[in-house]
Amino acid sequence: MDNPDTTGTAPWSDADVQARVEALLKTLSLAEKVGQLVQIGAADFVPGPKPDVVIRQGGAGSVLWLNDTKRFNALQKIAVEESPSKIPLLFALDVIHGYRTIFPVPLALAASWDPATIEGAQSVAAQEARAAGLHWTFAPMLDIARDARWGRIVEGAGEDPYLGAAVAAAQVRGFQGAYLGAPGRVVACAKHFAGYGASDGGRDYDPVYLSENQLRNVYFPPFRAAVDAGVGTFMSAYMDLNDVPATGNRWLLRDVLRGEWGFGGFVVSDAFAVGNLVTQGFARDARDAAQRALSAGLDVDMASSTYLDHLTGLIEDGTIPLEVLDDAVRTILAVKVRLGLFEQPYTDEGLLAEVIARPEHRAEARRAAQRSMVLLRNEGQLLPLSKSLKHITVIGSLANSKEATEGSWMVFGHVPAAVTMLEGLRAKLPDATIDYAPGPEINRDIPSWFESAMAGGSRAPQSPEDAESAYQAALATAQRADLIIMVLGEHANMSGEAASRASLDLPGRQEEVLKAVVALGKPVVLVLLNGRPLSINWAADHVPAILEAWEPGTEGGHAVADILFGDANPGGKLPVTFPRKGSHAPLYYARNTTHSPEESPLYNPRYWDGLPTPLYPFGYGLSYTTFALTNLAVSAPQVRVGDSASVTVDVTNTGAVAGDEVVQLYIHQRFGSDSRPMRELKGFERITLQPGETRPVSFALGPAELGYWSSHAGQWVQDATTIDLWVGSDSRATLHTQLVVTA
Ligand code: NOJ
Repeated sequence: MDNPDTTGTAPWSDADVQARVEALLKTLSLAEKVGQLVQIGAADFVPGPKPDVVIRQGGAGSVLWLNDTKRFNALQKIAVEESPSKIPLLFALDVIHGYRTIFPVPLALAASWDPATIEGAQSVAAQEARAAGLHWTFAPMLDIARDARWGRIVEGAGEDPYLGAAVAAAQVRGFQGAYLGAPGRVVACAKHFAGYGASDGGRDYDPVYLSENQLRNVYFPPFRAAVDAGVGTFMSAYMDLNDVPATGNRWLLRDVLRGEWGFGGFVVSDAFAVGNLVTQGFARDARDAAQRALSAGLDVDMASSTYLDHLTGLIEDGTIPLEVLDDAVRTILAVKVRLGLFEQPYTDEGLLAEVIARPEHRAEARRAAQRSMVLLRNEGQLLPLSKSLKHITVIGSLANSKEATEGSWMVFGHVPAAVTMLEGLRAKLPDATIDYAPGPEINRDIPSWFESAMAGGSRAPQSPEDAESAYQAALATAQRADLIIMVLGEHANMSGEAASRASLDLPGRQEEVLKAVVALGKPVVLVLLNGRPLSINWAADHVPAILEAWEPGTEGGHAVADILFGDANPGGKLPVTFPRKGSHAPLYYARNTTHSPEESPLYNPRYWDGLPTPLYPFGYGLSYTTFALTNLAVSAPQVRVGDSASVTVDVTNTGAVAGDEVVQLYIHQRFGSDSRPMRELKGFERITLQPGETRPVSFALGPAELGYWSSHAGQWVQDATTIDLWVGSDSRATLHTQLVVTA
């Protein structure tokens, strides 16, 4: 029951499911049908009648914001024994990067550039969540994010549609397994459809204006990949997309998602979003909101009770045809049938303890954290450190914070069980003296609701006097050490929902402490814990070794120690551009070539008050070894539109230790229907090589990679053109060849 099934085939056929759904549908009253479209929030902050009451009346088909196996079973019992329809409930929660064994945050997982690791991580998350009694997770978050100010950048795979699509598919496979209802798996939810990552100014929830071209070429591909991977559900985004809220957006939900992509699952709104159609100035009132959302293709109302209050009336007076309601109900019943809920609605209450105790879960979390870390700088090969170091000082309030280690989204009953950086370092060097000084605390200037809900809660701000003595204590402690490890960055509540920032600088007095510590003249290593790119300009020039550890999860402290002391070799690469300033956002590598290319001296400065070039480019990351790429070749110098070529390159480990390289293929189309980006990722592979070892890597380039949505043509095109190709270790790759595409 609890073992993941990656290979099996579903025990039902589509025809069986359909027949069962039709039979069930016939037994349901109008109110019971409406109930299936209602998702009730079981948290105290949700207004209105309590879940037990609503479920007993048949007024809910699913429950969220509950994380308690006994309570799941109790509510399920009400649904299947006492409600009029006896239809079991679906239990849903945000299981984003782990349930009890927490993996690196999604942005970090994407930095592994390793779909197998990502699939494995979400498979562990699924097993644990399923054992707890959950059926459905509100993940993966597939919003492309090119603005590092946007707090939710931490929840996605970064700025690139190609990488994003690969990560999306891996996550869906990890959560769902080989089929919907596979043992030990949960239903995934591709969210937030669509465009949420492009909110004006990076401000959370603000409106989004994206052309069809941008949507189809950049923002849709991860969602499309999720549909192709069989994702069971979608979630609509909160914000207005081109002045139409995503939750009431028929073009998104019906024309594109169902019509073009053939999605057959159901769409849930984001929390309270159906009701918010009124707040957003779109719907006249709640009844109008219910009508417009369901008509647009929004099946399940998350927590706003707008459907519960109004759908029955809207059907009875003929405003919405019954068939529209029936179609929505069918999609939900089909998921419940596929999950086997009618056969086994309950969860064994002893299972969770057994599943979360599995040592392989922790081992996978440690390995995933190692693989997601990105070495940003390593002057004079300061890293890896020697295990014979005798006296180390660790500085930074994040260094011993379980919440910062596990990262964003740990709400609703989560128990932090993380190994902090300090604990990991002490475990690695049990005989060394490892002093710790937190230094001044860091806080958000304006707290959010999530801060109080998150594990750890909101903090009372430190007084300036206490901060000053913490600062002095950190310097005094540093003075006694042979080497200092600074753990700086952002708290978990500084990225995520309602956590956008205007600045990308290290918050609080962290940089001041860093400068003072570096001035001591001792070796300093900087470990970053954060959920977004940070503009660490000073550190990038003055701190010899910098490791981007993100929010690394339960095993984070061990994984960082493994990397710092050479038991693991970093091989992650940035899935996002690191800008030099928050005001440079949005900044991303796949920009169009302009009339004045950036090398041109005369018109070069995009700003006259500082270069907008990245601090660290997309795809960037160092290793403890070095690699050479040679023999770049294309299978044919010329192909016809519609045909494919293969691109090959030899990769050699030219250093002294084994290591991983992520080989990346970028293209640029020189001319065609539209202007195209100066570079676009179209292939990548992470490989491990022993010292001296050479391996060929090859990529296919065909219509899928070379085609695009053209604004000029108003359709998908592939042009007869010349394509520049670069292969390398980041988005600045210089090894070049070309491919001519003929009509
Ligand atoms: C709001 C968030 O935007 C969404 O990502 C999440 O899944 C829901 N709340 C449910 O918690």
